Amino acid sequence: MSEHGEPRLETLMAAAFDDGSGSVTPPIYQTSLFTFASYADFADRMAGLSDTALYTRVQNPTVAAFEAMMAEAEGGAEGRAGGSVAAVGFASGMAAISSTLLALVKPGDQVACVEHVYPDAYRLFERLLVPFGIAVSYHPVSAFEDDPGLLAGVTLAYLESPSSAVFQPMNLPKVAAHARRHSCLTVIDNSWATPVFQRPLGLGIDIVLHSASKYISGHSDTVAGVVIARRELIGRLRDLTLPLLGAKLAPFEAWLLVRGLRTLGARMRQHQATADLFVDRLSQLPCVTRVHSPGPNSVPGLTGRSGLLSIEFDESVDIPRLADSVSLFRLGVSWGGFESLLLPASVTLAQAGPKNSMQRFGVSDRLVRLSLGLENAEDLWADLSRALQSSTGRTGADHTVKQGGDDEETAFNADHRGPLDGHLGAGRDQPQAGRGDHQPRAHPGAATNGR
Ligand SMILES: Cc1ncc(COP(=O)(O)O)c(C=O)c1O
Repeated sequence: MSEHGEPRLETLMAAAFDDGSGSVTPPIYQTSLFTFASYADFADRMAGLSDTALYTRVQNPTVAAFEAMMAEAEGGAEGRAGGSVAAVGFASGMAAISSTLLALVKPGDQVACVEHVYPDAYRLFERLLVPFGIAVSYHPVSAFEDDPGLLAGVTLAYLESPSSAVFQPMNLPKVAAHARRHSCLTVIDNSWATPVFQRPLGLGIDIVLHSASKYISGHSDTVAGVVIARRELIGRLRDLTLPLLGAKLAPFEAWLLVRGLRTLGARMRQHQATADLFVDRLSQLPCVTRVHSPGPNSVPGLTGRSGLLSIEFDESVDIPRLADSVSLFRLGVSWGGFESLLLPASVTLAQAGPKNSMQRFGVSDRLVRLSLGLENAEDLWADLSRALQSSTGRTGADHTVKQGGDDEETAFNADHRGPLDGHLGAGRDQPQAGRGDHQPRAHPGAATNGR
């Protein structure tokens, strides 16, 4: 229990489902419709006098079980058992984003979006909202925080904290206070932090959404989304875009997500432990110019570090070779599952089709994103270390990476001096490290570079 006597998130998520049958998990109501015992019951439901399930596009008990858990997870006491916070599931994170935006903005409105937003959210804004007459502007985190007038006349602020790709965190209480002054709705994608590490509703944000395909699921076996907000706002989505766009969450997917929520707390803590280890060791590597990974308390309300981070390597690392040299890390999009993934930014920057946000806002092609999974952290580190060794072209002993719980050390070869050895951050166009950015410390062996 917390100091207020409230059960904590893990405890809430472990509560057995209770329908009187003794089953600890909800049944999967794999049905498209629900029938009525009488004309009166049917007529009452159609007239809105009762709230029983009618049709799975808009209502399903398995989906409702997941939605109730998400309302509790993000809303705490406010979301408990029919409180003032509610949730609605969607077929994907993008369905959650598009259904939220289309329910809350109309032609003539203005949306202010944070830079480095998830690439397909950017495409939604540019390819659908803008042609429909909605003005969308993009701003750095600092403008949202420091310009109290930024949101004047803006209907909705679309936020990610941290952002995608470079994981810039945002002071949410500050931004929420600015927004409230201008009656601007705030929406945040909380997929990175999850309610385990950040609960934006309690920080003043109006609407939280997730790609539940990521940590909420945790098993890379479903694509889903969810939106959590005050009951009145969720009512607008249920009334408008859930039934009319029809991107509903399926009962089986909802059942998988209930299962994911049971272990969310334990998984996030494991992801965090591995990420802490990686951030610490990566920051000591001479070939690493930056690590983007916001940690606990880097902004108010952020209490942990997820397993999704990115690294900028100097020119000595051959990134295609690095990608081809890892064996535990797999190459692929998405993140948040049990398996570790590596995604070079150069691949996303070369993506075909309409411009994405990484192309628009400029991400270094030296950046590599890692989703650290649930494998043993030392095994993962050994895999990355070996891959770096074979992709730096360095031979010798001055790039030494701690490896293994037994303090074994792996020598990074250095008798072939890479172009930037010994010049980390010097003489290069290095942006200042921000919150959550880790500039490499001088490595103990750095002074011997180029011997
Ligand atoms: C931050 C973020 N938000 C939203 C999405 C979209 O979610 P989905 O793939 O479930 O539609 C993604 C997908 O990668 C994402 O990374």
